[in-house]
Amino acid sequence: MLSKNEIIRWLKEKDAQRLEALWLQADRIREQYVGNTVYFRGIIEISNYCARYCKYCGINAGNKTLKRYRLSMDEILTVAQTIERLDYGTVVLQAGEDPALSGEWITELIKRIKNESDLAVTLSLGERTPEELEAWRLAGADRYLLKFETADLRLFNEIHPLQNNGPWKNRLEILHFLKQIGYETGSGIMIGLPGQTYDELAEAILLFQELDLDMIGNGPFIPHPDTPLGKEYERMKNSDQQAPNDALTTCKVNALTRMVCPTVNIPSTTALATIDRQQGRENGLLRGANVIMPDFTPLPYRQWYEIYPGRLQAYKPPEEQHALLLKMLHKIGRTMGRGKGVSLNYLKKR
Ligand code: 5AD
Repeated sequence: MLSKNEIIRWLKEKDAQRLEALWLQADRIREQYVGNTVYFRGIIEISNYCARYCKYCGINAGNKTLKRYRLSMDEILTVAQTIERLDYGTVVLQAGEDPALSGEWITELIKRIKNESDLAVTLSLGERTPEELEAWRLAGADRYLLKFETADLRLFNEIHPLQNNGPWKNRLEILHFLKQIGYETGSGIMIGLPGQTYDELAEAILLFQELDLDMIGNGPFIPHPDTPLGKEYERMKNSDQQAPNDALTTCKVNALTRMVCPTVNIPSTTALATIDRQQGRENGLLRGANVIMPDFTPLPYRQWYEIYPGRLQAYKPPEEQHALLLKMLHKIGRTMGRGKGVSLNYLKKR
């Protein structure tokens, strides 16, 4: 098992040759535990309305320049059909914390997807009430994603102002609840937030293990010019312990996550592919990841789900996007997984 100091040493390692040993180890463990298949999850960003003021996020409620949208149920069901037609096993419904997405409406949506398809349903809808989370689980939702973003509670509180956690103490409490009521539960962090140290990244990796998560998605922090953190970014990066928000550090975190949590599903995230367009997605898969989550949000909505800048340049029609991904998989000797791709970590608990 890796100690915290060993994790920190890897996070600070600069020598490319020594890092090869880290990539190789993570890749071997990935192959040994979760194999050579890569599971595809189709993401639909169903609403960019948000009640929160998260300082890093481009769709936070304070961003008055952004055009807001909400998909209709029929629009969502049509996209879900495309995702199933491409033989993906999972649809991910993602949104800001949009109060107009009522608990009942989401329940109805889940039931309809479950009725009309064989897809696993993953929800990523923020901090909702226990009653809603429970109703959605009963309606057939399989998984829930809620990132804790940073293991440093002081930093978390600083970048999440005007919190209204409703009945919840914090996100860890929500994650425990999600596991308890039977969701496959996912979390993750941003890497290189201003004020985030190497020490804290190591804490986060150890926290993944302690929480016994089923899915762990990590991405680089990408400064957004229309957010408080995007504006203060340079000023706040103030110490030699500041963790970089680059592709290399993101890959290190994913590789170390794989070593510490060998049975989890780890996506090679869109954020990583955004800051390294050539190699990001592929490198993620070669350094611990076993899942990709292509975006299926239709135009024109996709451009408005601007949690960070640079996402739209990646737009391809679904079929074309899919063909390119299959080609990339082939090149690195991996194959597309069929079926739902349930986390091994979840299965071993049942
Ligand atoms: N850079 C990187 N990731 C971001 N997210 C939001 N804003 C940014 C940003 N500027 C991610 C967070 C959040 C999810 C909605 O998107 O991890 O959980």
